[in-house]
Amino acid sequence: MATEQAIRNISDTAIWAARYRARKTERKGALFRDPFARRLAGERGDRIAETMRKHDKHEWAWVMRTVLFDRFIAGEIAAGADMVVNLAAGLDARPYRMALPPALRWIEVDLPDLVNDKEQILRDEKPACALERVRLDLADRAARRELFRRLGERSKKALVITEGLLIYLSEAEVGELASDLAAPESFERWALDIASPGLLRLLQREVGSELDRANAPLKFAPAEGPPFFARYGWRPVAVRSPLKEAAGHKRLPLLLRVIALLPESSGAQGSRPWSGICLMEKQRF
Ligand SMILES: C[S@@+](CC[C@H](N)C(=O)[O-])C[C@H]1O[C@@H](n2cnc3c(N)ncnc32)[C@H](O)[C@@H]1O
Repeated sequence: MATEQAIRNISDTAIWAARYRARKTERKGALFRDPFARRLAGERGDRIAETMRKHDKHEWAWVMRTVLFDRFIAGEIAAGADMVVNLAAGLDARPYRMALPPALRWIEVDLPDLVNDKEQILRDEKPACALERVRLDLADRAARRELFRRLGERSKKALVITEGLLIYLSEAEVGELASDLAAPESFERWALDIASPGLLRLLQREVGSELDRANAPLKFAPAEGPPFFARYGWRPVAVRSPLKEAAGHKRLPLLLRVIALLPESSGAQGSRPWSGICLMEKQRF
């Protein structure tokens, strides 16, 4: 009898991410603390961690992604954002673990089964802000446009987050999402992560078959890098490198420490494995 795969579907990638957050939280000198991650990742998280062990050498990249998103989010809230829209929020626990204004509206969107499980696990916890969850398949374009329209009407200045989502979409799908996000007036900023074609190939080699089996193939890594989004109305205002950030915190193995000394561009990366955490601003025409 075939054994069940560790990552069964796209939503299990959220467990994978939470498992990394749990591990880092429990280490000495952690750069962030997510006390909910262990519970959210559960036993399935242990199983996924076991299967994906070969990926552990990139653990620093997961940590820095969290750190850099946290920084963008805190900065945008300090600059007056009144709503955070976290698309494909997965098992993210920022509304519980970050210091947030109580009046801030935080909207999490993800697939129904994942949201049901998450709500059950966190049922006795209290978020720091006004948290709402939306069960939605973001591939349903009409439904997501309607959601964005409604959220747009309820906010003056919203920050959208997609963390760990775009890589699972095709270029055309990312373009459509970017266009839909540009429509509501109040959706002014968007924090996202992006991989270079070189990093995509490396990840496909290392964990691609596991993700293909879960029907969650890795796809998106535009050759032009962050400027990809310009034609959909989004301009990069800040591009941060997890590699450089990790070097600054002395979290890299020796070889990568040397590579981190090389200058980096915020545009096309050629064949270099690279990821960027980007803050986009809606262009005003
Ligand atoms: C890698 S996880 C990232 C989760 C979270 N943002 C994080 O960084 O921990 C990808 C998430 O995308 C969600 N997702 C993928 N496709 C989706 C869709 N069509 N509609 C809603 N959520 C989706 C999955 O359920 C999963 O929670």
